[in-house]
Amino acid sequence: MNTSTPSRVFSGVQPTGNLHLGNYLGAIRKFVDLQHEYECLYCIVDLHAITVWQDPAALRDQTLEIAAAYLAAGIDADKAIIFHQSAVSAHAELAWIFNCVARMGWLNRMTQFKDKAGKDKERASVGLFVYPNLMAADILAYRATHVPVGEDQKQHLELARDIATKFNNDFEAEDFFPLPEPLIKGAGARVMSLRDGTAKMSKSDPSDLSRIGMMDDADMIAKKIKKAKTDPEPLPDSLDGLNDRPEAKNLVGIYAALSGVTEEAVLAEFGGQGFGAFKPALADLAVEKVAPIAEEMRRLRNDPGYLEGVLGAGAQKADAIAAPILKEVKKVVGFLG
Ligand code: TYM
Repeated sequence: MNTSTPSRVFSGVQPTGNLHLGNYLGAIRKFVDLQHEYECLYCIVDLHAITVWQDPAALRDQTLEIAAAYLAAGIDADKAIIFHQSAVSAHAELAWIFNCVARMGWLNRMTQFKDKAGKDKERASVGLFVYPNLMAADILAYRATHVPVGEDQKQHLELARDIATKFNNDFEAEDFFPLPEPLIKGAGARVMSLRDGTAKMSKSDPSDLSRIGMMDDADMIAKKIKKAKTDPEPLPDSLDGLNDRPEAKNLVGIYAALSGVTEEAVLAEFGGQGFGAFKPALADLAVEKVAPIAEEMRRLRNDPGYLEGVLGAGAQKADAIAAPILKEVKKVVGFLG
């Protein structure tokens, strides 16, 4: 980390619907803790969302849903800055400059583009290809130093560091941008599908049973855990025993992340027991942790005016940080003031 730069946290979630337990454990829960230590900006990345088709009415709705999730999870809008990306023009402007800094070869190596574009790359939007450049712009428009994310964003964070390094070198502006540090470690960094322990829990999985939704009620959460794929063996006594048992490993990991204990501690308690005993315990725990957030989300969703007010105020604060940085960037690049 560049120690001469003050610590600032930036992260974002796409308003693409189906917010799930992976988003919460991998990202949003960390956002809540970090707000006490750092200056934090938590963005709802609507510019990223439109890299694949979004129905406009649904996009508006989903943007408010993420705002509700941030608040319901415990982010304090007086402490952290909560806003939507399209309201602060620095993101798009800096992304263009980064489109001219990043190299085609770097983007060609991005695994997420390959996954999302699927077989027919020719039909993917250009935005989807340059998505990581926009992500770098999100972070660096604020000279953010720390970025809490799930494991799936690791490669994008490395690219952001490469872009910052190349910009600083190309323009001989040493330390102009800090090299942002990913904050990934810890339980919950990679929550897997409840239907397939080798695939990550994802918003776009066609099966709703694959994920615990942050708006699911207690019955739904319990049902999904009951139906989660498992194997016939009892839980092992030690971590090694979870090798080659991806579904069991995932459920133990979720239990550990939700309860704030290690996986070893979970196995110390449940080792030797079958899923008939473990699943109800996990369901109770998940309901205890998720249901209150879902309930508060539903309450907040009924007050869109309030949510829009929070986002509008947040956007002003975010713009006040990003605008002077963007002004400096333009000067460094050689644009007339
Ligand atoms: P998105 O919207 O896909 O996901 C939001 C956050 O949730 C994490 N996550 C998971 N963590 C653990 N297990 C899972 N199964 C799981 N699925 C998702 C993601 O890692 C992410 O932290 N590109 C980003 C959004 C973004 C961003 C940024 C993040 C845009 N600009 C700048 C940080 C900084 C994305 O699509 O997240």
